[in-house]
Order: sequence, then C-alpha cells, then structure tokens
Amino acid sequence: MKNTQTYIQEHHDDFLEDMKMLLRIPSVSADPHFKKDVVDAAKATAQLLKGAGLRKVKIHKTKGHPIVYGERIIDKKQPTVLIYGHYDVQPADPVELWDTPPFEPVVKTTKKHPMGAVYARGAADDKGQFLMHVEAVKAMIATNELPCNVKFMIEGEEEVGSIHLGDFCKANKKMLACDVILISDTSIISNKTPSITVGLRGLSYVEVEVTGPNRDLHSGVYGGAVANPINILAKMIAQLHDEDNHITIPGFYDDVKVFSQKERDELNKAPFSEAKYKRDLGIREVYGEKGYTTIERTGIRPTLDVNGIWGGYIGEGAKTVLPSKAYAKISMRLIPNQDPKKITRLFAKYFKSLAPKAVKVKVTPHHGGSASVTPIDSIEYLAAAKALQTTFKKDVIPQMSGGSIPIVALFSKVLKVNTVLMGFGLDSDAIHSPNEHYGLFNFYKGIETIPYFFANYVEMKN
Ligand code: BES
Ligand code: MN
Ligand code: MN
Repeated sequence: MKNTQTYIQEHHDDFLEDMKMLLRIPSVSADPHFKKDVVDAAKATAQLLKGAGLRKVKIHKTKGHPIVYGERIIDKKQPTVLIYGHYDVQPADPVELWDTPPFEPVVKTTKKHPMGAVYARGAADDKGQFLMHVEAVKAMIATNELPCNVKFMIEGEEEVGSIHLGDFCKANKKMLACDVILISDTSIISNKTPSITVGLRGLSYVEVEVTGPNRDLHSGVYGGAVANPINILAKMIAQLHDEDNHITIPGFYDDVKVFSQKERDELNKAPFSEAKYKRDLGIREVYGEKGYTTIERTGIRPTLDVNGIWGGYIGEGAKTVLPSKAYAKISMRLIPNQDPKKITRLFAKYFKSLAPKAVKVKVTPHHGGSASVTPIDSIEYLAAAKALQTTFKKDVIPQMSGGSIPIVALFSKVLKVNTVLMGFGLDSDAIHSPNEHYGLFNFYKGIETIPYFFANYVEMKN
C-alpha cells in the first residue's frame, strides 16, 4: 500500500495527461454523427487498460456502441472487484454557453477548486471518474500490491439508457462473475464531507405527441374554433401535479417505499444549507412536493418533469400559425419498489384520459430502469466508508442521490452482487451542462482512496 501511494503521488502529471487525452475525443453516444468518435474512445479506453497491466483487454461489439473489458486475475481464491463506468458523454450543446470549447480540456483554478479543475464534457461524468480506477489499479499492479482480482467493464451507452448492456451481462455472466461492483459516477457532499451514495432513483422516460388539425393553420382564420395542440398539451401537463405538487396519476404512489420518520431524520442530518443552495442556483425559493425537505424531495420521493417541449413556430419574428402538432419529453424519477414499466403504463393511460376529443395523443416510452439501494451494513459499504475515512480524515455520510444509473438495479438482478457507489464528483461539477468540470483534488483523492477500498474489502471478506 505504501508503494502504491508513493507511485500515485509521483504520477499525478501522467494521470492528468491520460484524462485530457480521453476528454479530447467527443464520444457523444446520443448523436450518430459522433459514431466514429465513440469507437475511438473505446479504443483509447482499451489502450489505457492495457497500459495499466490488465489482461484479456477486448472491445466487445454490441448492436450499438462497444463495451470495453479487461481483467487481472491474481488468485482465484481471492475476491473479485468489478469496476463499471462509461466512456460516452452527453451532447455538449448549447456549445455557445461554454467558456472554452467542450472537447479541448483545460485546467482552470477557481475559488471552489484552488488545486484546479479540468473543464471539458465528460470530465466528471464519467471519464475523469472511471479513469481514477484505471490509474489506481495501474499503481497497484506496478507496485505488486494488487490484493485481489479486478475486472473492468466500461460501456459506451450509459447516457442513452445502457440499451445493450443488460443483454451483454446476461450473455457473459461467467466472464463478469464477481463479488462486488464498484462505480465512481456519483458525487460527494463536499470536499470536506465525504459521502457514499446508497440510493439512486429509477427512471421512466416518455415522449408525448398531441395532434390537432391535419395541417398547420392560419391562427386568425381558424383560431378559436379548432383545438390548438400546444394549448392543450400545456393544459394536460399542468394537470399532472396538484396544488401541493403531488403527482396526480392514479396509482403512481401505490408501490412507493415509505420511509420512517427515523430514517427521514437520519437523512436530514446531512449538512445542507438551503441559503447556499438557492444562491448557487439563482433561485428565490425552493419548490417541490409539500411536506418534504429538499434532501427528501431529491432522495426519497418520485418526480415528474418536462425535459423539453416544442411545436409550432419558434423561428425569428412572428408567424401566425395554429400548429398541427405539439410534443414534450417527460421524465419520471422513481424510488424503490416503483416498477418503471408499470409507471409508464399508468402515465400513458392517465395522460390520454386528460385529452379532449379534439386532439389525438401518442405516448412513446424511452429507456427506463428501477431505483437501487446499497445496505449500509454490508461489507462493501463498510470497506468504502473506511477507505474514505482514511483519505479524507472525516466521517462518511450515506447519501441518497436523485440521479439514475439504471444498470445498477440490473446488476443486482443478473449478477447477484451489491454495488458500491463511491463517486468523487461534486453537484456543482455541471455534468450535462455547459462548462462541465472535474476538480483535480477530487481526481487525485479518488485515485488515492480506491486502493484502500481494495485492501479493506479483501480484509473484511477473508
Ligand atoms: N452519472 C450520472 C448519474 C448521476 C449523476 C447519479 C450524479 C448521481 C449523481 C449518469 O451518467 C446519468 O446521467 N444518468 C442519467 C440516466 C440515464 C438513463 C440517461 C440521469 O440520471 O439522467
Ligand atoms: Mn454518469
Ligand atoms: Mn450522465
């Protein structure tokens, strides 16, 4: 361990160069235009795995973007840690809101990041984060201090719903057999307050289309006599929440896990300043479901949000038009025991029931996934908590996150193992937004912490 830590301190610059190299590849999985770049990122990831000393490194083709695999088996009697991450990134748009180009990584020093932060799309989500594991394993192998077996599975479709990963896992159960899955794709509370994400929300994502007349019409000649699908859509959306911001879909809350007051009190102990939260976001008031705190609203309650809405004329100036169609993309974040398929069904039924006869409604489901939780009395949680405690010299707080990594629920179902979400990002990293960045403090701290997880896990397991 001592040698591993020395190796890490001596290779900071190399690690940073690896991160910049990855970040220069625009591996946007959602946009077919970047298909070749996604493949290039898979190749670069495979190269990094080889360079770290992993064996059987292979780029596995899927019907979509490839999955990169590598392993180092030192002793079949020792436990196996499977590292999961994703080399694909969100689209960079709106590009004009970036201060520096999204795929030209630069280190900038800010008040929040006195050690500097790397600015680029994918810096925190998830290239900078999965790379920490590659570098940590590289250090352990180079110093002969890797205490157990390790496998890597880095995919290229996380940001589009991990479409082919489920089948890949089912088809390769033996290759992926492991004792624990370790993921860094989440955040800590702050650089002074280390935390482990013990809950992720699930997701149901749908697109709706409302059709009125069979063509766009003159809004004067026809306006007032024909249903305007945008007006109707807005009205329908407005009915999805009541006065108290509860979701109105019948049956939506039926399976929702109810947290006891004791559990809620525990959650609310996490350091959180509402004033700072509001200041940071430029809002005068928080807003959400009545009866719950901000921590609870994102951690243990389901939501429904419109992610995009369009239709009619949105070009320059004014065009008088009564549009034929209106559209919206709607996400529902789910919490334990809600079944995404059932929620999608309930949504579709209710949404259609809200429409007047004057329009037609189509609901198209996109990807989804179930919520997941890690028990805090499990060996894997304890090994991670102890590792963070060692490197941050602070007690660790379990945290429920509002985001989703749908494949985590599938891992527990298919591979039958627990997942530890030991992410090192900050909520302020602007993931999915312009000017995404990842703190160098976080990057190096992560690389330092990972070998302690390995050591603790092997010790607790044996
Ligand atoms: N890494 C994020 C999820 C995340 C971020 C969890 C921060 C906790 C804290 C992941 O890449 C992501 O963006 N997931 C998507 C879902 C996916 C199906 C597109 C999400 O949460 O919107
Ligand atoms: Mn991610
Ligand atoms: Mn993401």
